[in-house]
Amino acid sequence: MKPNSSPIEREEIVAKVAVPAVEAIAGLSRPLVVNDSLGRMTPANAALWNRRASKAGTGRIWPEDGPYDGVLIRLLHDKSAMTMALSAVASRMDKGAPIYVVGANDEGIKSIGRVLADHFEEIETLDTRKRCRIVRGYRNASVVEKPRFEDWATSCEFGVLDRVCEWSSWPGLFAKGLLDPGSELLISTLRSQQGKKAIKFNKPVLDFGCGIGILSAAIRTMAPEVSLTAIDVDAIAICAAERNVPDLDARNSDAWSAISGSERFGLIVSNPPIHTGKSGDFRVLDALLAGAKNRLLFKGALVLVVQRQIPVQKKLEEHFKFVEMLAQTTRFRVWKAS
Ligand SMILES: C[S@@+](CC[C@H](N)C(=O)[O-])C[C@H]1O[C@@H](n2cnc3c(N)ncnc32)[C@H](O)[C@@H]1O
Repeated sequence: MKPNSSPIEREEIVAKVAVPAVEAIAGLSRPLVVNDSLGRMTPANAALWNRRASKAGTGRIWPEDGPYDGVLIRLLHDKSAMTMALSAVASRMDKGAPIYVVGANDEGIKSIGRVLADHFEEIETLDTRKRCRIVRGYRNASVVEKPRFEDWATSCEFGVLDRVCEWSSWPGLFAKGLLDPGSELLISTLRSQQGKKAIKFNKPVLDFGCGIGILSAAIRTMAPEVSLTAIDVDAIAICAAERNVPDLDARNSDAWSAISGSERFGLIVSNPPIHTGKSGDFRVLDALLAGAKNRLLFKGALVLVVQRQIPVQKKLEEHFKFVEMLAQTTRFRVWKAS
């Protein structure tokens, strides 16, 4: 595994390294596989829990009840999300059942033993190849203190558009209980454009990559009656956004997968994901730009914020006739395309 391997290359390498673990759980009667986005590590007899939507289908916030007699879990980059996922699966495993964790050295697999030790014993590295490893442990007799999804809900307070609100969140969601400066710039830019003809808030609005729903909440404040749709690949983000924003049509979606070909919006807003894990990844940004034009109503606009070093202007000009920078700070730029 090279540090600059693309996300897909990473998943392919990890899936190859995981083969002995896949073979081991394939011989069990009720195995569970977690975070297998390519579907390459899931034997036919295994249940699957993916938090993110993928080709395998929509995501799930929590695994089915089980009990499971073995688990294979792809390491998550986010330690808090990984800790939560391990609690969820440990609460559904038979005592003595094996767990296999697979991931790359530069993703933190070498220190997974410390997290596993809460609920697993006899932890050892089974295999090390291609700068990845498989770590195995066995479910011990410890009680899982937070076995349910709701046990992990957090709430935080911060202001959006001068209103301080309480926000529901969960481990692994964007910005970790703080208002991201990029989102803040996008919101203040939208507000400064409100009432100007160039951006309309009276036609259906889409929040692409909504996270816990911060941009949607700002739109709802500026346009209380507008029809508002929000999409995110993470099923838990969708759950949080539904709680945080009234009258939101929130859908779990890998890029455009949950938006039908006939839906159209007057405004699409986004603070798109640019980096996943260790390597730069423009796939979602590219999918957003490629799909947005055909989802806009006549005179509709895409407004997005990106870090200023990302060469987004050229990408936007490939798809849109009019591209304009509406605002910038030392770190971010807000672009409008129509
Ligand atoms: C930079 S965060 C922005 C979150 C939120 N809009 C905000 O401003 O706080 C990007 C969001 O895009 C979501 N995302 C990542 N990949 C995606 C994909 N393939 N399809 C849809 N959403 C995706 C992430 O889960 C994350 O919530």
